[in-house]
Amino acid sequence: MKKTFVTAAAITFLAAGISFAVDHSEMHEMMMKEGGPKTDTRTELKMPEPMKVMHRGMMRQHLDTLSEITAALAANKLEKAAEIAKENLGWNDAQEKMCAMFGDMAGDEDFFALGKAMHAKADDLADDARAGNRDKALTDLSQLIRKCNACHEKFRH
Ligand code: HEC
Repeated sequence: MKKTFVTAAAITFLAAGISFAVDHSEMHEMMMKEGGPKTDTRTELKMPEPMKVMHRGMMRQHLDTLSEITAALAANKLEKAAEIAKENLGWNDAQEKMCAMFGDMAGDEDFFALGKAMHAKADDLADDARAGNRDKALTDLSQLIRKCNACHEKFRH
């Protein structure tokens, strides 16, 4: 009985070992295709962990907002798309304070500039949607997403 258990356990570990080896070599191959291992050279936002948690929560909210804007544009509800963009992502005093605070922590003025550019693009989207120009609003949406990523490419937690 004991021997059977030991054998079964040995087989399990061996199988797990083999499957890890396969996963590992696949992972290695995938990484090499992407140009090999890299270090993250982005500028780190120096803020306490709870602030990072809060910031990431706000970020996920931004992603949700993009989904809501896309859905409203798809349904041709342009006024609704404008409202969502303006209220959640438009530039205002509160956003300015928030971006300035995180920007101070980043210790790099690019953070504020990239944040402001993203919010300004959301305002353009709201204006174009409100004017009834869905094509233009969709182009704004694409540019807005690029503004999100322009900051992700430069800064990290
Ligand atoms: C001014 C800078 C800046 C802008 C603009 C910005 N982000 Fe971020 N975002 C960050 C940083 C910094 C992180 C942390 C990235 C890391 O450590 O990899 C982040 C992380 C995220 C994450 C990951 C959240 C998680 O749970 O880990 C999402 C999703 C995200 N951002 C969405 C967005 C969207 C959508 C927009 C545009 C509407 C946007 N962000 C605009 C700076 C920015």
